[in-house]
Amino acid sequence: MTQRIAVIPGDGIGKEVVAEAVRVLEACGDVALEALPWSADHYLSTGVTIPAGGYDMLRSFDAILIGALGDPRVPDNRHARDILLGTRFELDLFVNYRPVRLLDDRICPLKNRTRRDIDFVVFRENTEGLYVGAGGRMRPDTDDEIAIQEEINTYRGVHRIVKHAFEFARARGLHRVCMADKSNAMAHGHALWQRVFRELSPQYPHITATHLYIDALALLLVQSPDQFEVIVTNNLFGDIITDIGGALQGGLGMAASGNIHPGRTSMFEPVHGSAPPLAGKNVANPIGAILSAALMLETLGREDDARRIERAVEAAVHAGETTRDVGGSLGTREAGAAILKRLA
Ligand code: NAD
Ligand code: IPM
Ligand code: MN
Repeated sequence: MTQRIAVIPGDGIGKEVVAEAVRVLEACGDVALEALPWSADHYLSTGVTIPAGGYDMLRSFDAILIGALGDPRVPDNRHARDILLGTRFELDLFVNYRPVRLLDDRICPLKNRTRRDIDFVVFRENTEGLYVGAGGRMRPDTDDEIAIQEEINTYRGVHRIVKHAFEFARARGLHRVCMADKSNAMAHGHALWQRVFRELSPQYPHITATHLYIDALALLLVQSPDQFEVIVTNNLFGDIITDIGGALQGGLGMAASGNIHPGRTSMFEPVHGSAPPLAGKNVANPIGAILSAALMLETLGREDDARRIERAVEAAVHAGETTRDVGGSLGTREAGAAILKRLA
C-alpha cells in the first residue's frame, strides 16, 4: 500500500539532505511524497510559520520527514518552534528515538574503539521538560530583567517514556537500561524521574536498570560508550547527549532520529540542524537524513526496505564514498548517489 509522506525540507542544509533522502525513498517505491514549503523563507515572505489547520493536515499523512529548521534571519527561532517543536507537541510525539551506531571503525573519533563499542539507543522525552515554554520575562531588556524558564515533568509523561525504553529493551533482547537525570540538584522535578524508574525497574527483572547523573553520563559516553545499550532521559539532556552520540558515530551528519507516538503519524529527521555555514555548498552529509528515512519506513512496518537502505549506507561508508566530514571527498548529491547506486 502506498504511504503518504509529508516532506518539510525546511532551512539551510535541510533542503539538500532531504533531497537525497527523497531520492532514496522514491527508489524504494510505494510512497507518495508531498512537499510542504514551511521554512524561514516561507515565514519571512508570508508571515506564516505553519498555516491554520497545519497540524491536522500533518496528522492526515502516514509519516512526516523534516530536514532542519533554523535561520539567522529569524533570531527568535519562531518558525522552528512552531514547525518543529510544534509538531512534536501537537502530535504528542513523546518518543524521541535516537540510535547511536558507529558504521565504520575508521570514522570513530575515539582511540581504540570499534563498531562493537558504539551501538546504543537514546530515548529522549519529547513533549515536556524545559521545552514546554513555561515561564516568562519580566522587565525585558533592562538591567532588572528576570527570566524564568520552568521545567515541567508529569508522572504520565515520565512514565510513558521510561516504560517505552524498557519495552524496547525487552523487545530487542537488550539487557541494560540507564536513566540519566540531575536529581542531586533538581530535587523536585527529577525526584519524579527517580520515583518512576524505581517503580518500573522491578517489572523488568531480566534488565539491569542503572542510574547516572547526566554529567557522569556525558563523561562515560566518551570514556566507555561500550557499556550502554538503552539510555532514557529528559528533553534537554537528551538533546545534548545525542549530539555527543552524533560525534561518536563520526559526526552529527551521520545521526538519525524519529519523533514517535506509537501507532500514530510520526516525524523523522536527522539530528543535526540547518548548518548555515554549509548551506548551498553541496557539502552536507546526507546520511543522517537518509537513515531517518529508513527509520521512518521501519516504523511504517517496512523493515526490509529499512535494512536495504542501512546496508547501502554502510557499504558506501565502507567504500569511503562519503562527504568530507566523515573522511570522503564527495558532495552531498554524489554521496547520495553512491548510496542510491547500492540500493538498486
Ligand atoms: P548544526 O547541527 O546545524 O551544526 C553543528 C555542527 O555540525 C556544525 O559544525 C555543522 O557544520 C556540523 N554539521 C551539522 N550537520 C551536518 C551535516 N549534515 N554534514 C556535515 N556537517 C554537519 O547546529 P547549530 O549550528 O547549533 O544550529 C544551526 C541552526 O540549526 C540553528 O538555527 C539551530 O536552532 C538549528 N537546529 C535545528 C535542528 C532541527 O531542525 N532538528 C537541530 C539542531 C539545530
Ligand atoms: C534537535 C534540535 C532542536 C531541539 C532545536 C532546533 C529546537 O536541537 O532536534 O536536536 O533542541 O530539540
Ligand atoms: Mn539538538
